[in-house]
Amino acid sequence: MTTTADPVLDAETDPQTPDPQAPDPQGPDTDFLASVVGSLSTPQKSIESKFFYDAQGSQLFDAITGLDEYYLTRAETALLRARSEEIAALLGSGVSLVEFGSGSSVKTRILLEALPALKVYVPIDISGAHLDAAAKRIAADFGLPVIPLHADYNSRVSLPLQVPRDKLVGFFPGSTIGNFEPEAAVAFLKRVHGLLGSGARLLVGADLQKEAARLVAAYDDALGVTAAFNLNLLVRINRELGGDFDIDAFTHRALYNAEEGRIEMHLVSLKDQSVRLGGKKIHFASGETIHTENSYKYNLDSFRALAERGGWRSEAVWTDPEGLFSCHALIAA
Ligand code: TRP
Repeated sequence: MTTTADPVLDAETDPQTPDPQAPDPQGPDTDFLASVVGSLSTPQKSIESKFFYDAQGSQLFDAITGLDEYYLTRAETALLRARSEEIAALLGSGVSLVEFGSGSSVKTRILLEALPALKVYVPIDISGAHLDAAAKRIAADFGLPVIPLHADYNSRVSLPLQVPRDKLVGFFPGSTIGNFEPEAAVAFLKRVHGLLGSGARLLVGADLQKEAARLVAAYDDALGVTAAFNLNLLVRINRELGGDFDIDAFTHRALYNAEEGRIEMHLVSLKDQSVRLGGKKIHFASGETIHTENSYKYNLDSFRALAERGGWRSEAVWTDPEGLFSCHALIAA
């Protein structure tokens, strides 16, 4: 059973929980290498965005959330603060909170402060170092049992046995759902439904459609932090996979694709060049891009429709006074 005396519980006792941080006995990360070589060998080159978040990437992302242009974090945080009592009234007391991609868990604290008689907090994150530090701080600050799961929440995750199965609430802030293709977002919502069960709730943040200039600025800041975050993918490939990317020969680009309703992030090759990686030679024409991320923007109705396809009914939605950002309370049908 969970106790507050030893609040950070060891989730590794659950044999079904994968640990992506575990050292690979085969040496360099073969999944990482295979993924990158594969996705750089297609006509539109790309890199899976889950590889953004090594230690440096996680730090750079934290810096993004504090940028003037990056309104998302401020808007969502203010929204959660302003509505925390309403949210707590809707969710009730004695819930267990499961967070997908918890990072440094700043927004979570607002919920943890507002929710009465919480049972347990389960942060799930791919970045192990980040996760453990945040879990320890939260356990200490709130005197709450915390069960961190080192996992890619897009792979098969199961809840540790210590987590009560009733009154489960998922938390997925940050508009991370916008980083999925709509079909993948539906699949994710179905998976969360399967994990948490019927009657569970999900609080999910979604960035809203707005004029393109405002959106592009949020993903191409004046200080170049987002550029450094994007380019860190290549730095990481060089360090961990022995690639020989010339980092200065690539540049960051953010554009708004109105047809798809999404921001796209690319790394643009500044010249005709070749890169060696995993015994392969990968050619880049001048101006050719590596597509690294999408960030889909919704309106209230299009998001509700998406949620419904994933097996969730919208119970409530809150937006900030400027109409920049939305937070949906969903219930598992
Ligand atoms: N969920 C965030 C978003 O779409 C992630 C993000 C912010 C991001 N800035 C980025 C991802 C830059 C890649 C590159 O807003």
